[in-house]
Amino acid sequence: MRGSRLQSRIFIAYLSHSMELFRMNDDYEAHEKLVKELNDDTLRAEYASPLDGYKVGIVPSVLGWLLVFAGNTVYGKKPSYEKFKAVEVIARIPYQSWESVSYTLLTAFYSNERYAIRLCKMAAFGRFAQDNETMHVVVVSDIVRKLKKDGFFRHTLIPLLFSFFYFWAIYLVYFFSNRAALELNYLFESHAYSQYQKFLENEGDSLKHRPVESEFLEFYGRQVRNEYELFESIRNDELIHRNRSIREIELCEGKCD
Ligand SMILES: [Fe+2]
Ligand SMILES: [Fe+2]
Repeated sequence: MRGSRLQSRIFIAYLSHSMELFRMNDDYEAHEKLVKELNDDTLRAEYASPLDGYKVGIVPSVLGWLLVFAGNTVYGKKPSYEKFKAVEVIARIPYQSWESVSYTLLTAFYSNERYAIRLCKMAAFGRFAQDNETMHVVVVSDIVRKLKKDGFFRHTLIPLLFSFFYFWAIYLVYFFSNRAALELNYLFESHAYSQYQKFLENEGDSLKHRPVESEFLEFYGRQVRNEYELFESIRNDELIHRNRSIREIELCEGKCD
């Protein structure tokens, strides 16, 4: 038991500090292993704590506040299935935007090898996180549809229209400042993480009695026995995205601004 705990700590330390060793194909298995590890409250707190008090710049701070304020105004402060559906439609967009802008920059800066490696890593992270967020939106929206809890205007049309605007807004922010885009995502993912945590605390007992049947989840390769385990794993995904956003700034070696 103690041995496996130690192994877990070493694994988390590896993921946190050696992103230079990042290999595109290893990412899925490493991520899924970490998602399971983070179900342990102590390990999760250890993984989260170095970046819990991270201070973001003024631009991401204002944009992040606006995003959370708008989300709370339209969908309510309390976490709910419907709110998660809307948030997950939007959550994929920054990663899609980063991947796209990274390839755009590669069109011009292919002759700078170090920069090209960084852009390739960013595009790979964007692609991987996009697939992960896609899993969230497909699985959560299927649950919401079965519960008949979503409305066309608030939970389908608004997130869809907002996503078009958000894609280009993030594209521009990232283009001019990688740091600002990554810090904004840190705030967005922090909010998502705490909302899922609250949801698990508020609805935990009933979620444990609700089985999950999802063809997409099977296709993605994640196994859960009930909604509690599903939302636990999604919460952990968001925490990994949060930390990873800041680790990407560290990999810029001071050239993220
Ligand atoms: Fe998500
Ligand atoms: Fe996320």
